[in-house]
Amino acid sequence: MGPGGPPRAVARGWTVQPGGGASAVLWARAQASVARALAPQWPAFAARGAGALLFDVDGRPYVDLAGGVGCLAVGHAHPKVVRAVQDQAARFFHTDYVVFPYEGYVAVCERLCASTPGRWRKKAALFNSGAEAVENAVKIARTYTGRSAVVAFEGAFHGRTYMALSLTSRVVPYKAGFGPFAPEVYRVPYPYPYRSPFPTEEQTVEFCLRRLEDLFTLHVEPERVAAVVVEPVLGEGGVVVPPASFLPRLREICRRHEILLVVDEVQTGMGRTGRMWASEHVGVEPDLMVVGKSLAAGLPLSAVVGRAEVVDSVREAGIGGTYVGNPLSCAAALAVFEVLEEEGLLERARTIGQALHEGLGALQLECPLVGEVRGLGAMVGVELVTDRDRKTPAPDHVGFVLRRAAERGALALRAGVFRNVIRLLPPLVLREEELSRSVSVLGDCLREACRRPELQTG
Ligand SMILES: Cc1ncc(COP(=O)(O)O)c(C=O)c1O
Repeated sequence: MGPGGPPRAVARGWTVQPGGGASAVLWARAQASVARALAPQWPAFAARGAGALLFDVDGRPYVDLAGGVGCLAVGHAHPKVVRAVQDQAARFFHTDYVVFPYEGYVAVCERLCASTPGRWRKKAALFNSGAEAVENAVKIARTYTGRSAVVAFEGAFHGRTYMALSLTSRVVPYKAGFGPFAPEVYRVPYPYPYRSPFPTEEQTVEFCLRRLEDLFTLHVEPERVAAVVVEPVLGEGGVVVPPASFLPRLREICRRHEILLVVDEVQTGMGRTGRMWASEHVGVEPDLMVVGKSLAAGLPLSAVVGRAEVVDSVREAGIGGTYVGNPLSCAAALAVFEVLEEEGLLERARTIGQALHEGLGALQLECPLVGEVRGLGAMVGVELVTDRDRKTPAPDHVGFVLRRAAERGALALRAGVFRNVIRLLPPLVLREEELSRSVSVLGDCLREACRRPELQTG
């Protein structure tokens, strides 16, 4: 073993067969040249994708329930998106909007302003990644309010750049060794019904919001808080769906203290949860919304959209960036908006979510490992525990299920602050037979994990 630790494939529990196919050859090259931190969860390389399917360089097909970590609501290589990007590529790749503007940027902002909740006039600014948009939402909120503090939640994931990482709430692997982080970030608990010590959802919400009010007494005066940044469903934190009263009550607290509510819909937006925006499920109108991932079908594009006077509080050139709102990404995003509508993908998200819930939820009866199946629309989490009473996290079993499922041609993700949640973010174009096959493969793998005593240690 070298000084940097074991090679990645081995570190992840894989033994790659030397000479065993095109993927194995690429693995060897990757180990020599790609940073160890970028450790793929499965030792196969992509050759092409179509809809909800991915094919590796050895020709093996996979149902892609990871969906590029939730970026592929419209699936891989959707013909309409491909055409839009090709047309744009043939015209121009890049100008920088503030040097020489183009219609695509304006049209994406129009679509975002029209579709996001809020009965006020809105404006938008485009960026590249979710983290970058989160950073800019904080800059905008600070400018508008003239306040410095930001409140975020336990279990939150807002990205990996320094401000976003400061808002993110998980030590390993995201934060450990990377400090110091941005100051003026305060943290309160997020309602996590499955792990709550309180018997009812209402008491759980009450506790979390009381902690927020306590924060204003114990740590920072509300007059100094610019924004509360919140995910409507924790994604990376384990697909945690808060009780329906949480966001509206949070909205009310923010309104009372004139704090901006920034809802991070990077993962939950663009139809993922069965509505265009998860905030709509509970009728919440954020002051600012952060959008990313599925916005441009896998091309880098993110946005901050919200109340016009808030967005416009930033002086000219105060926010921006060389590539923000790239023309190719904007062309893709405009096609994505059309595809979501034309193909009824919001409804499809609800159907997919229901089928995954019912199929995997039924396993709870026969497989004690399955602690909870939860989610909103086509954003589904299966929390695994080795002991249902103590809710002892079972991260090893998650690793086992992900490997077995991938061997059988279904790709899924890991999530959760205890790394013990299987997360499914499938393309919304997932066909019926792919859906039923996914449920049956995951079910078989979970049953198998249940029978593995050597993994029962959690
Ligand atoms: C809710 C949320 N916010 C922000 C981010 C960061 O996005 P990116 O990885 O594009 O920077 C993510 C990524 O998973 C996310 O899920």
